[in-house]
Amino acid sequence: MVGGRILRMTSASSSASSSPAPRKDPWDLPDVSGLTVGVLGGTGDQGRGLAYRLARAGQRVVIGSRAAERAQQAAGEIGLGVEGAENAECARRSDVVIVAVPWDGHARTLESLREELRGKLVVDCVNPLGFDKKGAYAIRPEEGSAAQQAEALLPDSRVTAAFHHLSAVLLADADVEKIDTDVMVLGEDREDCLVVQALAGRVPGMRGVFAGRLRNAHQVESLVANLVSVNRRYKVHAGIRLTDV
Ligand SMILES: NC(=O)c1ccc[n+]([C@@H]2O[C@H](COP(=O)([O-])OP(=O)(O)OC[C@H]3O[C@@H](n4cnc5c(N)ncnc54)[C@H](OP(=O)(O)O)[C@@H]3O)[C@@H](O)[C@H]2O)c1
Repeated sequence: MVGGRILRMTSASSSASSSPAPRKDPWDLPDVSGLTVGVLGGTGDQGRGLAYRLARAGQRVVIGSRAAERAQQAAGEIGLGVEGAENAECARRSDVVIVAVPWDGHARTLESLREELRGKLVVDCVNPLGFDKKGAYAIRPEEGSAAQQAEALLPDSRVTAAFHHLSAVLLADADVEKIDTDVMVLGEDREDCLVVQALAGRVPGMRGVFAGRLRNAHQVESLVANLVSVNRRYKVHAGIRLTDV
């Protein structure tokens, strides 16, 4: 802005006659209602909350656990047709597999399920975080992010990343009808990202928005450290909204 005027830059490649590219509708998505979604670590707060919300939206869901009985118990508590199985069986039975285990167990879990996850659409929602007396802080994995670690460990799977910024408390609260938030979806393949966006969009109030390739997952995973600070200061369950999309 110079002297109250906004200066617009024109690139050498743009011409006066070219019209701007049309906007894309983030709701132009495939029908995913027939897919089975598995949740590794689905007995925990995040996995259970996601399983509940997706099942409530009509999705077929299988909860995974290191112990089949724990998975079956969690599934029984949710109801809505949710089933429970040991993590490997959960992966085998699912079209889309959400990884909702703690960062500590991430690499080992994925390594052990490489065969079962072959060809599957994997959705990583793991946030590598540390906590100390100053609060939460982001950890940078050797591979760049949890999602990139998943990509490195699962060369025969289609890895995406999403659902990092959701509050497990809100997901689990049956009185909350709508989860008012955007879900940033990252991945290498456009069709895979659209499937994940569509799954997010099945939950009332939630919208999936493509947010880049996996090399940009670290910022998205790290942003949770900021949300933890917001939550602590204001005693809320903060999420994110992207404007002008
Ligand atoms: N909580 C949130 O609000 C939230 C929001 C967004 C993303 N996330 C991410 O979601 C993931 C899960 O979070 P959470 O709060 O649900 O965690 P959690 O309750 O601590 O763990 C989830 C489940 O993972 C399994 N598990 C625990 N330790 C494991 C290990 N070493 N290896 C393999 N499996 C293990 C356990 O299930 P079994 O014992 O039954 O196997 C546990 O119930 C985290 O990576 C977190 O960053 C959490």
